[in-house]
Amino acid sequence: MRQKIVAGNWKMNKTLQEGVELAKNVNDILAKNAPKCTVILGTPFIHLTEVVKTVDSKNIKVAAENCADMASGAYTGEVSAAMVKSTGAQYVILGHSERRTYYGETDAILKEKVDLALANGLLPIFCIGEVLEQREAGKQNEVVKAQVENALFHLSADDFGKIVLAYEPVWAIGTGKTATSAQAEEIHAYIRSVIAAKYGKEVADNTTILYGGSCKASNAKELFAQPDVDGGLIGGASLKAEDFYGIIEAYN
Ligand code: 13P
Repeated sequence: MRQKIVAGNWKMNKTLQEGVELAKNVNDILAKNAPKCTVILGTPFIHLTEVVKTVDSKNIKVAAENCADMASGAYTGEVSAAMVKSTGAQYVILGHSERRTYYGETDAILKEKVDLALANGLLPIFCIGEVLEQREAGKQNEVVKAQVENALFHLSADDFGKIVLAYEPVWAIGTGKTATSAQAEEIHAYIRSVIAAKYGKEVADNTTILYGGSCKASNAKELFAQPDVDGGLIGGASLKAEDFYGIIEAYN
């Protein structure tokens, strides 16, 4: 079933103590104001276990921001999908543009990560999106289509149904420059049509597609009101409990 989701991506922010405090603050707010959407905290690996213990799993799910493309073994510094799962996290963010750009994650690597995540019972939040140059050249549709096809279209319909997509135009990430709600709707609807062409209308209708990129309390309501926008993946505005709640509240 298509869900409404507001997911935070803390990126490389917060010490363990600061992260636990942030999770506790979000948890306290939601204990008093039950969310009308699925709320996910995406945290660095080191926070996962403590954040899982800190939050009420009824209101808040937990995501890693990455996992390895190998199952186990001599890969110093890597964290496997099985390890993430063992913390109690339910989701894993994969394919974020920062990982693609700074750490050379290709579609082929991401395909491996998606498979390992699913094999270990984690639900991928799979990020796609074009850079400014591609948008200016009118190539955004072909870029996101290729990203989805190359890393996800080998999946069975059943497994594809476990994927949450996050459209994050790279030019809108951390820039304060949000896609307009019309731009977001246009490409979300396109992404859904690509899924429908491969898996059929029912699977496409049931796929959750989040928007990410300078999403904040002041623009969330309008973005989330678009028929093909099912919530948000939030960076900067997820680092303060009140700001993050301001976005969750868009669904109240
Ligand atoms: P900002 O909300 O800081 O623009 O980041 C978006 C993002 O990259 C979430 O994954």
